Amino acid sequence: MKILYTLLVSVFISTLSLGQTQKPQDFLSSDFHQERREILRNKMPENSVAVFFSNPIRNRANDVNYKYHQDPNFYYLTGHRQPHALLMIFSEEQNIKGSTFNEIVFVRGRNALAELYDGGRISTADAVKDLKLEVAFETPEFKNFPIDFSKFDQVLFHDFQDDVRESREEGDLYDLISQFKQKVNYPDDSKLDITPEPQKNNLNTTLLDELLRPMRGIKTEEELDLLRKAVKISALGQAEVMRAMQPGMSELEVQGMHEFIYKKYKAEYEGYPSIVGAGHNGCVLHYIDNYKPEIEDGELILMDLGAEYHGYTADVTRTIPVNGKFTKEQKAIYDLVYEAQEAGMAVAKAGVPFSNIFDTTLAVINKGLLELGIVKSLNEEDLIDPATGRHRYYPHGCCHHIGLDVHDLGEYGTLEENMVITIEPGIYIPEGSPCDEKWWDIPVRIEDDYLIKKDGIELLSDDAPRKSSEIEELMKQESAFGQFNFPELEEK
Ligand code: GLY
Ligand code: MN
Ligand code: MN
Repeated sequence: MKILYTLLVSVFISTLSLGQTQKPQDFLSSDFHQERREILRNKMPENSVAVFFSNPIRNRANDVNYKYHQDPNFYYLTGHRQPHALLMIFSEEQNIKGSTFNEIVFVRGRNALAELYDGGRISTADAVKDLKLEVAFETPEFKNFPIDFSKFDQVLFHDFQDDVRESREEGDLYDLISQFKQKVNYPDDSKLDITPEPQKNNLNTTLLDELLRPMRGIKTEEELDLLRKAVKISALGQAEVMRAMQPGMSELEVQGMHEFIYKKYKAEYEGYPSIVGAGHNGCVLHYIDNYKPEIEDGELILMDLGAEYHGYTADVTRTIPVNGKFTKEQKAIYDLVYEAQEAGMAVAKAGVPFSNIFDTTLAVINKGLLELGIVKSLNEEDLIDPATGRHRYYPHGCCHHIGLDVHDLGEYGTLEENMVITIEPGIYIPEGSPCDEKWWDIPVRIEDDYLIKKDGIELLSDDAPRKSSEIEELMKQESAFGQFNFPELEEK
């Protein structure tokens, strides 16, 4: 008997440890998500309910979907990474169906056949145990769930985007949204803000973002651990590509090297489609085709990529000379953008208006463009492109929060401790610009990620050099990618 018991225990323990080693153990803790729900609840108006839906599954083509990505707010509040789910948080305890609770989650019903293909779905018991949610039901139970939304002073939710497909399964996201709309008397076919007074309008589609914005914008230590990792991985990718870069490589190959490093360090995704643009492609701010088959000697290549580690994404850009040496003109533009970034970094600290960073970088760039003779004056007609209404050579902002989204939810008034932001000045001079041709097709963006502190900033992406001279030095080194030796594809 004792032997049998020992055997069973050891089988159980080895199964347990196998289960644990099959998925990473450094996700945000259930305590983190529970605490976030509690903070949100305490900010909610009296007698209100907040309703969150999981992200839809996105179809790629025919019967192939994109890899699933949870809605960041839903993830922030639950840690749940599966589709077809509904979360409700109540400002006060509710008594429904004989139990008392102030939060409830509906998770997708179990389905052996679907799970054979897609892997296990969370059970309601595990939703309570692992996600630490008070009460859990399966989604088909939402239809007849006895909740009277009319009794709340406010029903808080994000308005619908009408981009959810119906699936064959009862209790899918499509059903949850339709049933919710019926239950709250949602004025269909029109956006709430243009609907003339619905019968009893206790629906509020704007407050949730106002409540969540300051929460998501200030990172906790647990979030910072993941963000630091995402940023470090991204910077290591940039550094390795600097070593590996050769004229003749394709933009896709360069993208692949970055993304290989991400996977090597166990980052699951890219936080946004990777931008790898050589020469004039770098002047397209969000160029994601990455199609150029052979990057040319003498070109700059702009690489804006971010690893997403357990939901948290970095956003790092480096611009380097493909052959390892900046030309005189490229270096002049590069060093000007570097100077602007340094100036932006110097003013960033808690208590300072966000806009100070952009204003500082803009002043440096404008002065430099004038000194280089790229603009004739700092008058509007010389600086602003009438076709876009934007600055001709620095047409974008320079700072945003990063976190669960690359352009993360957060306040943009005053910098606060434990915000994590980018500083990303850039100059782009497309062919045909009204300046000497020698500047044409020079695109430069330098983008780094920073933790805001009381007295300044911490540069998180310093594993990738930023200075032009340091980039040139690093590009002289051998890369591990240089050892890769692949056969040519056969000529047709
Ligand atoms: N990668 C997008 C951005 O820099 O904001
Ligand atoms: Mn950015
Ligand atoms: Mn970027």
